[in-house]
Amino acid sequence: MPSFTVRTATTQYEAIVESNIISKLASFLPSKVSQIFVVTTPDVWSYHSRPLESVLEGRKHKVLFFPGGESNKRMSEVEALADQMVGAGADRASLVIGFGGGIVTDVAGFLAAIFLRGIPVLQIPTTLLGQVDAAVGGKTGVNLVSGKNLIGSFHQPLAVLIDPEVLRTLPEREYRAGLYEVLKAGVIRSKELFDLMALRSADVLGQHPDVLAQIISESVRIKCEVVTADEKEGDLRRILNFGHTIGHALEAESSYLRVLHGEAVSFGMTAATHLARLAGHLNEDDANAILKCIEIYGPIPSLEGINAESLLARLGSDKKTLHGKVHFVLPTKIGEVIITNNVDPELIRQATIAALHVNSR
Ligand code: GLY
Repeated sequence: MPSFTVRTATTQYEAIVESNIISKLASFLPSKVSQIFVVTTPDVWSYHSRPLESVLEGRKHKVLFFPGGESNKRMSEVEALADQMVGAGADRASLVIGFGGGIVTDVAGFLAAIFLRGIPVLQIPTTLLGQVDAAVGGKTGVNLVSGKNLIGSFHQPLAVLIDPEVLRTLPEREYRAGLYEVLKAGVIRSKELFDLMALRSADVLGQHPDVLAQIISESVRIKCEVVTADEKEGDLRRILNFGHTIGHALEAESSYLRVLHGEAVSFGMTAATHLARLAGHLNEDDANAILKCIEIYGPIPSLEGINAESLLARLGSDKKTLHGKVHFVLPTKIGEVIITNNVDPELIRQATIAALHVNSR
C-alpha cells in the first residue's frame, strides 16, 4: 500500500496507508525509547486497543486517557496529561503515541512538543479527518476560548500510520466530517480527487475498500507534498486552509459544541465558494459543481440562530489574519486556488449569509 514522504529542513518521515499497519509499529520506534505514552480516548481504546497492546507488550508503556471533543482541546488537559507522565517517570527518552482522531493527535503532538521541551511523537489516526489531514504535517495545538488552535507548535511526528480499516467503527457523522477534508484536498489541488468524490459518492459513503484507499492516499499525497514545500505555512501550505477561515469562526462562535471541525470546514468551503464566485474568481459551473459536491456529503447540523455579523467579527482573531487583514483561500477552478486578502467586506458578508442560508434549513 502507498507510503508518502514529508521532508522538512530538520526531518523526514513516512505517512503510510496500509491495512493492519499497527502490527508493524515496532519498526518505526527508535531503538532507545525508555517509555511509551499512548494518548487516546476511552472510545478509541475500547474499539482498537488490541493490535496496539500486542505490539506494546513487553515494552514499558502507559495509556493516558483524554476525554475527547473539541471543547476539551485545552491547555488544562495538556497539563493534566503532562502531570501523569511525570508521575509515571517520563524522561527525555520517552515517546508519545497519538492514537485517535484529529483532536487527539493535535493534543498528543502538542504534549510531545512541549514536554521537557520536546520529545518524539508518532501518530496513529483513527478517524478519516485525522488520517487525511490533522495527523500529517506536524501541526499541533489547543484552542483558546477566543479562537481555534491559537496555542500550538509545529512538531513533526516520527511516522504517521494510517489503517483505513479502523474507520469501520467510526460513527457516520464523523466519517462524513472527514470527507469534507478530502473534498477540500480535491478542490485545492486535484481535479481527479474531486471527480472521484463527485462521481463515486455511493462508494465513498459506503466505504468501498478500493475507493476509500484511493481517497485517503490521494489526500495524504497532497498533504505530504504541500507540507514538504512549506512546512511552516509561510506560503503554499496556506492553501490547506480552504474553508477554514470562516469555518474556525463558526466553531468558536458555537463554543466548539455545535459542529464537528469537518462540518465547520464544509460551511467554510460553501462560504468561500460563494465568495470566489461573487468576487469573479470562479465561474458559475465550477462554483455549482463544488457546492453540489459539498451538499452530497451533507447535511451538517442546522446553523439556525447563528448570526453572520458575529461570525464576521471573529474573523479578525483567526491565525490567518495578518496585519489586520483576513486572508481567504478561494478556488479559481476545480483543483486550483488563490490566496488573497483583497476581498470586498460586503462580498464576504454576502457569502457568509449565503452559506448560513444553505445550512439553516
Ligand atoms: N490542516 C491544515 C494544515 O495542516 O496546514
